Amino acid sequence: MPDTHAWWQRGVIYQVYPRSFQDSDGDGVGDLPGILTRLDHLVALGVDAVWISPFYPSPMADFGYDVADHRGVDPVFGTLADFDRLLAAAHARGLRVILDYVPNHTSDCHPWFQESRASRRNPKRDWYIWRDPAPDGGPPNNWLSEFGGPAWTLDPTTGQYWYHAYLPQQPDLNWRNPAVREAMLDVLRFWLDRGVDGFRVDAIHHLFEDERLRANPPNLDWRPGLSPARRVIRAHTMDQPEVQEVVAAMRRVTDSYPGNRALIGEAYLPIERLMAYYGADGAPGFHLPFNFHLLSTPWEAEAVADLIRRYEAALPPGGWPNWVLGNHDRARLASRLGQAQARVAAMLLLTLRGTPTIYQGEEIGMEDVPIPPDSVQDPWERRVPGLGLGRDPARTPMPWDAAAPQAGFTAAAALPWLPLGPDWTTRNVAAQQRDPGSMFALYRALLALRRAEPALSVGAIAAVAGEGGMLCYERLHAPTGRRLRILLNLGLETQRLEDGGGRVLLSTLPVAETNPRWLRSAEGLVLVV
Ligand code: GLC
Repeated sequence: MPDTHAWWQRGVIYQVYPRSFQDSDGDGVGDLPGILTRLDHLVALGVDAVWISPFYPSPMADFGYDVADHRGVDPVFGTLADFDRLLAAAHARGLRVILDYVPNHTSDCHPWFQESRASRRNPKRDWYIWRDPAPDGGPPNNWLSEFGGPAWTLDPTTGQYWYHAYLPQQPDLNWRNPAVREAMLDVLRFWLDRGVDGFRVDAIHHLFEDERLRANPPNLDWRPGLSPARRVIRAHTMDQPEVQEVVAAMRRVTDSYPGNRALIGEAYLPIERLMAYYGADGAPGFHLPFNFHLLSTPWEAEAVADLIRRYEAALPPGGWPNWVLGNHDRARLASRLGQAQARVAAMLLLTLRGTPTIYQGEEIGMEDVPIPPDSVQDPWERRVPGLGLGRDPARTPMPWDAAAPQAGFTAAAALPWLPLGPDWTTRNVAAQQRDPGSMFALYRALLALRRAEPALSVGAIAAVAGEGGMLCYERLHAPTGRRLRILLNLGLETQRLEDGGGRVLLSTLPVAETNPRWLRSAEGLVLVV
């Protein structure tokens, strides 16, 4: 029976943060031609698709997530012709390309916002969210910006406040206005026409806010040290019911193109609420609403097993699962779990049922790089310093090769926009390609196994159990009867294994160190049973 699964179900996605992947012109910032020269790394690794964070023209207040022109390439990243070349080169290697689509807000330098703020009577006034001050002249209500401070900024010229879920330089679009909706859906068409294979849709849970502007209730669990944005519960600023209809409209646009274009949604939501983003009968939504729950679940076998079971049970009929262990907004995996458990986490990510997304650098175990206060780039850390919210540590440049100046990331004389990690002379792609015991070798082996074993890519999952540090589950491919068992030791104790547990296909440890009777701390095994 031919396998009917789509590429975004079978495949593995790799996220490139373009500023930090590869610089080609010596300005210390990565760019599109740089990505092109590194495509063979992705092929060698064995991933199927590359998602590229925003590279559109932008004042870079939020490093590209403040888009000033949805249909171009910022000069720091190259040109539209560079993009077309990159897309063709990726396709020539069998790699799909997924763009980052930022619908919730634009840059304050976007011509739409420039017009909108020009006067209250400007035809584009209603493209953004403008409100009169409260009676005391302050912001219209208590809504807070994700990046600290009020979510409203006063425009002195027109005497009204604009709403921004993020920075003041990222005004929220008004998706209740049909003209906004058409203009933004056209952005999808622009890139689909150029041949992209899908989109990762940014911050979709923020797309709508309560029209009546009701105040958000206080969060009684907030305490100093947590993000100031969490002082309120975002009952009226997040996950509003209107969003599903817009997601369905985005899906209709992508579905009107041939070739299985994929839509992935970024929504940090509890499992039950996330499921709505798959859409409803007759109105499908995202193919993959990002499942971030591994990022917030304690690294304990019981907790992870419980998460897997709850997530699988919550999926709507036909809903395809997915798993994420890191991205440009979160601390590095190896810094959260340590290098040994990061290997176990890699095995988990690549043997679970559902599409995995790998963040650049995880394949060599990159760690968070401490950034001195005077070198901070991230606007979040600048606005809310000292709480550890800053995202720079997870965004430092890729170390490619110890033999090249600046690890091969940029020219010898250039100043990288964020410093290379201090371990780049030992932790880099070239060194790990030569070392069969490296993190890179493990990722490559896991990706090869996932490709070779339909049980891993499209099979069912069963017998999920977590106890005493050990997490286990099975993956089954009914058409061939293949049955794999995955055993992961998340704990510190060695676990005794049952006799006759199966034949080892892959271990997170060098094969010589594995023993069929014992599972050491931080060891993971894939067995045929
Ligand atoms: C998403 C992005 C993040 C960005 C924010 C605002 O969460 O991943 O990097 O700052 O949206 O666009």
